[in-house]
Amino acid sequence: MAAIDFNRMIERLNDLIALDYDAVGAYEAAINRIDVESLRMSLRGFQQDHERHIRDLSGVVTRLGGTPRTKPDAKGFILKGFTAVTAMMGNEAALQAMRGNETLTNRTYRMALDEDWSDEARVIIQRNFEDEQRHLAFIETALRNRIWEQGPTVQQ
Ligand SMILES: [Fe+2]
Repeated sequence: MAAIDFNRMIERLNDLIALDYDAVGAYEAAINRIDVESLRMSLRGFQQDHERHIRDLSGVVTRLGGTPRTKPDAKGFILKGFTAVTAMMGNEAALQAMRGNETLTNRTYRMALDEDWSDEARVIIQRNFEDEQRHLAFIETALRNRIWEQGPTVQQ
């Protein structure tokens, strides 16, 4: 515990918070492009996971005496490698974009686990990483099964 640099930890936690904010925004755009209700509901759930990540990580930052980020970094979205979901995209393209974005969040959380953390922070980061693995696995399966070609769709 004594070896951990708390200022650095606050900085790295805020980087993860920024990543989760970007993921929330990307999901909002994707949900708006997808017209399969069951798929929209699943993605809404993933978006809520990312919102929980922000809350949990922000709590740690506050307890460490830091100031949690309260919004995404506008330039960071592209710099980090996120793919924007645009109005041109349909179900498949939006899901492909989110597959790329979840690959990014998975990689970032996996790399974060290699760093030094307090026990409290590590538990949260591990739990968040497990969410990310679940999100990516779902999207990969949805793409493989082309689930937008099955079942009823909603009017847009
Ligand atoms: Fe995710």
